[in-house]
Parts: sequence; C-alpha cells; structure tokens
Amino acid sequence: MKLLTIVILISLSIQITAQKKLFDETEQQKTERLAWWTHDRFGMFIHWGLYAMAARHEWVKKNERMTNEQYEKYFEIFDPDMFDPAEWARMAKAAGMKYAVITTKHHEGFCMFDSKYTDYKVTNTPYGKDIIKMWVDAFRAEGLKIGFYYSLIDWHHPDFEIDRVHPQSAKSDEEYKKLNKGRDMSRYREYLKNQVRELLTNYGTIDILWLDFSYPGKHGKGHEDWDSEGLLKMVRELQPNIIINDRLDLKAYEDGWDFTTPEQFKVPEWPTINGKKIPWETCQTFSGSWGYYRDEMTWKDTKQLLVLLIESVSKGGNLLLNVGPTGRGYFDARAVSALSDMGKWMKYNSRSIYGCTQAPEEFQVPPNCLLTYNPELNRLYIHLLDYPLQNFNLPGYKGKIKYAQFLHDASEIKISKPHGYWMKQKMGDNDVNLSLPVVKPDMEIPVIELFLN
Ligand code: GLC
Repeated sequence: MKLLTIVILISLSIQITAQKKLFDETEQQKTERLAWWTHDRFGMFIHWGLYAMAARHEWVKKNERMTNEQYEKYFEIFDPDMFDPAEWARMAKAAGMKYAVITTKHHEGFCMFDSKYTDYKVTNTPYGKDIIKMWVDAFRAEGLKIGFYYSLIDWHHPDFEIDRVHPQSAKSDEEYKKLNKGRDMSRYREYLKNQVRELLTNYGTIDILWLDFSYPGKHGKGHEDWDSEGLLKMVRELQPNIIINDRLDLKAYEDGWDFTTPEQFKVPEWPTINGKKIPWETCQTFSGSWGYYRDEMTWKDTKQLLVLLIESVSKGGNLLLNVGPTGRGYFDARAVSALSDMGKWMKYNSRSIYGCTQAPEEFQVPPNCLLTYNPELNRLYIHLLDYPLQNFNLPGYKGKIKYAQFLHDASEIKISKPHGYWMKQKMGDNDVNLSLPVVKPDMEIPVIELFLN
C-alpha cells in the first residue's frame, strides 16, 4: 500500500509527452460525462468482504500469509444477518454523500455478487443472497449514484500468478517459477473480463467503476497482465457514461482513465498533467483500515473529516470516504456517529460543497481558512477553521463583495470598520473587514457566504 501511495504521489503533477488516445471523445464531451460527479463532490466507499470477519484489515490474508485453506473458515460461516442496505443508504444520504462505491470483489478474490464464473461467491455462503444486487437496489432507491470497486488482484484464483504482493510471495526467481507452474494468466484475464462484464450487464446503469490496482515491474502486474486496453474498451461499450479511476496502468493514454485517486494523503495542490488540472478524488478512511478492523484506534474526529472534504473541494477535487461494515453487516458505532456529525454540518452548509470548486486566484486565503467557490452562483465560501474574534480581515477584497452572510442561517454579516486601534492601523486600503459575532455559531466549521460583484 505504501508503494501505491508513492506511485500516486509521483504521478500527481506529471509531464507526459505525446499522449496516445483510445477513444474519440472530445475534452468537452468528457467534461460533460463527468459533470454530475464533479458537482456532487462527496461519496461513500464501502469495503466489505470475508475480511470483515477477521476484523484486522482487508489485507489480513497477505499480512498473515494465509493460504486458501486457512482462509476458508470465513467463507464457511459468512452470514451478515444484520445487513440492511436501506439503512446504509439512508446514512450515506443523510451524511450528504451523493454516490457510493462498494467492493464487489477485493484482493482476497471473494465475490459479493452472484457470478457464474466462480463458486467463491456470496450465494454459496450461509448468507446465500446476492449482496451486490440488494445493495444496488437500496442505494438507487435513495437516489444515490452507483459505483463498483473490482479488484484486479485475486489471491484466490488458481490461475492468478503469484507475485510480490501475493500472500504466498516468494524469495527468489526460482521459487516464483516453481509456485507459478501451471498458473495461466491468460485464463485469469478471461475470468476478470467475464466478471466485469457480468457486473456491468446484470445490475443496470453503473455510474462509476473502480478497478484496483496495478504495480508494474519485477514480480508485479500492469496493463499487459490485465489486458487493460481490451478491458477498458469493453467497459466503455457496455456502459458508455461510466466514470473510471486510474489504476489500470494506462497513464500512457490521455483517456485510459477519467480521474486520479490520491489515497490516504492530502494533495498539496490540484493535480496536473502537462500543466493541465485533472479530475481527482481522494479516498480516505475513518481510521487506518478499509475493511472493518476491530482494534484499530486511529479514528479521525469530525473536524478532521470535514476539513478533508472542504479542502478537497478547495483544490477542485472529490472525497470518497470509506466505511468498513462488520461481519454481521452493520456499520460500527464510530462510523455511524462520524457520518451523523458530518450530516449535521452538511445539512446547513452543503451549498459550499456541491457545485463548488477552487476559488479564483484573485481571492487571497485569510489565515486559518479554506475557500471554495461556486462559479454558477458567483459566490465565495470562507470556511473558518479557527473562529476569529469579531474583526475578520479580507485582504484585497475591496469592491468585490455585494453581500455577506453566514451560510448556515442566512444571517447578515456586517461589513464595517474594524474596532481597535491596532486593527485600524493594520488594515490595507483594499481590505474589507467583516464584523463577526463573538459567539461562535453552533457549527463545527462556520461558513461565510459572500455574494460577489
Ligand atoms: C489499496 C489497497 C486496498 C484498498 C484501496 C482503496 O489499493 O490495496 O486495500 O481497497 O487501496 O483505494
């Protein structure tokens, strides 16, 4: 995972010469295809599979170098009796999320959907039902857009060649050779394609596809191993409007992906390729694991989570925030309360998120603030991360503001001379002073809405 982060970091502002194309879509058409996603900004990631029962990371099979036989016990008893996708969907919606992406298969290889190409699937567990089908129906019913995560990696399939990230990774070339005898990646490629076809055929319109992940190089896997070009062409044929992430190892193509996916870190600025800003979405966890991890304690607090969201939008990006449901099928109480806290804020402040993006450069960012901007409304949103004491100086904003109010209650904020001798001395000719109430509004992060001239 560290490796993946490094690869993504390096690729955040890359220079690529002479980019090839796979399709004939224009830039304008791509912008239109992505318009709903760029507008909605906030989605829910869901990592759910057999690893939820081990409850110690979705990579538990690799981390503990388990064999298929050792891992089998989870398959034999998987029975999330409290799974209620309608409740999940309500929670996502109440948190302000507009789309959701669920793991249909993670690296462990277990399928949460009823695939006709494997027996290693949910319908063969004691639970017996197609979880993906139930999930899609429930989330669609709440008006949420539907995304599928599908792991390119498969630690269960007999033809998937053992490599350096596999639970049975080896120490020498000879050992790899021995282990991989009889394994045939071309058969695995076929399997992968068949399953992606099933997912994009049997569940109606799929809005997002999240394929994960490539790690080219020695004893790694990249676009040739997956036949990424062929796969992507099939995906676009089956679901022409789908939005797809960038982990197929197709960066050589301008259109081998739709958005980039910085994972578990904050980008320093809007990522670019050849100087051009590109669509991006950061994926983040509440705590350090994607799958349910009972004893993991590094949970972010509400303010940190809200800052993740606001800061992403302030740099032109989206946030995909992950929940790892338990083996019984419900959300951990810590996730439920984090979602509800975010929802409380979003209920009153989502106007600074939906349809918003990075503010024009002419607006200087005041200390301890994050700015977002809605180009259609021509409004600027100032997020006060550290609530100021009455005088609030906006450097260089003179002549730019028509009206100022708090976003949460539409209460006017007066533009007036600052009080206090030193403040008056300090104020520049082109500055504006807002007069804030002493009492911090009852909002985790209060937002000022500026109607601009
Ligand atoms: C990494 C991890 C995986 C997780 C994903 C989310 O690729 O391997 O466990 O699903 O990131 O972005």
